Amino acid sequence: MAEAAKKLEGAALTRLLSLVKTHTGITMEERKRDMLTARIKPRLRILGLESMEDYIDHLEQGKVEIQDFVNLVTTNETHFFRTQAVWDYFQNEYLPEWYKKNPDTILRIWSAAASTGEEAHSLGMACEEFRFKHPSFKYKVMGSDIDTEVLAKARSGVFRDRTLDELKNRHPTLVEKYFREQADGTFRISPVVSANLEFFQHNLHKAPPKGLMFDIVFLRNVLIYFNDQDQELVLSNMHRALKPEGMLILGESESLARHKAQFTFKKPLIYMKG
Ligand SMILES: C[S@@+](CC[C@H](N)C(=O)[O-])C[C@H]1O[C@@H](n2cnc3c(N)ncnc32)[C@H](O)[C@@H]1O
Repeated sequence: MAEAAKKLEGAALTRLLSLVKTHTGITMEERKRDMLTARIKPRLRILGLESMEDYIDHLEQGKVEIQDFVNLVTTNETHFFRTQAVWDYFQNEYLPEWYKKNPDTILRIWSAAASTGEEAHSLGMACEEFRFKHPSFKYKVMGSDIDTEVLAKARSGVFRDRTLDELKNRHPTLVEKYFREQADGTFRISPVVSANLEFFQHNLHKAPPKGLMFDIVFLRNVLIYFNDQDQELVLSNMHRALKPEGMLILGESESLARHKAQFTFKKPLIYMKG
């Protein structure tokens, strides 16, 4: 490993970081070299390649490896109900206010960097809880990511280990209500929730999906991977995807302080279009 990492320097490192940028929009710093090497090394073995340079040549030559490369270089950490303040806002303020104004409309939500789906499934459970009190409430959660491997997990609706244990500790009644334990010890989301969820592959640097407009977009813990110029591009894509007065929700360490022209600050992490 140290040997391979040592070799990833100079021109090779520059080429690799440039491939990361081209295919994901992520601006990765040189100090991520060891992490990149560790993630790519198993691919060398699978592809029968000897060095990182061979792998970079392979990437530059053809499209076959590109999606695997994208899946390798993205960081997918996520949690159910991540950042309590956001969920307090969504459940106690946003949903009641939105429903009062739009009693006959379907609430359209976009989890725009969905990873393995914990955020989209949290949205589904929060909406189901709201629907319990307001049976005519309807919603649809679209989840997207650039990484096809995490999307497959999100679509499966099956969860285990760390994120599910966290959910059990924080919201045991939600696990009881919305998950079924399976023979292998994993937990599958109830069809009541999954019927309102849909996942698709999307690169945030590209134009938003045609014909879809959202009331609220969760764009959480992903802007941090982009440089200022690309953040601006992604934000203008979100602006296009939001309905008038639509809401944009960011991650803990993200803010629109440098880009606020298109959005109005409502409270920390929460912005309104316009
Ligand atoms: C750290 S996770 C955040 C997951 C979730 N939103 C949360 O806050 O818990 C970041 C996700 O952004 C995705 N991502 C990175 N670049 C992307 C791009 N250009 N377009 C779409 N998704 C991207 C990654 O694949 C990863 O799953």
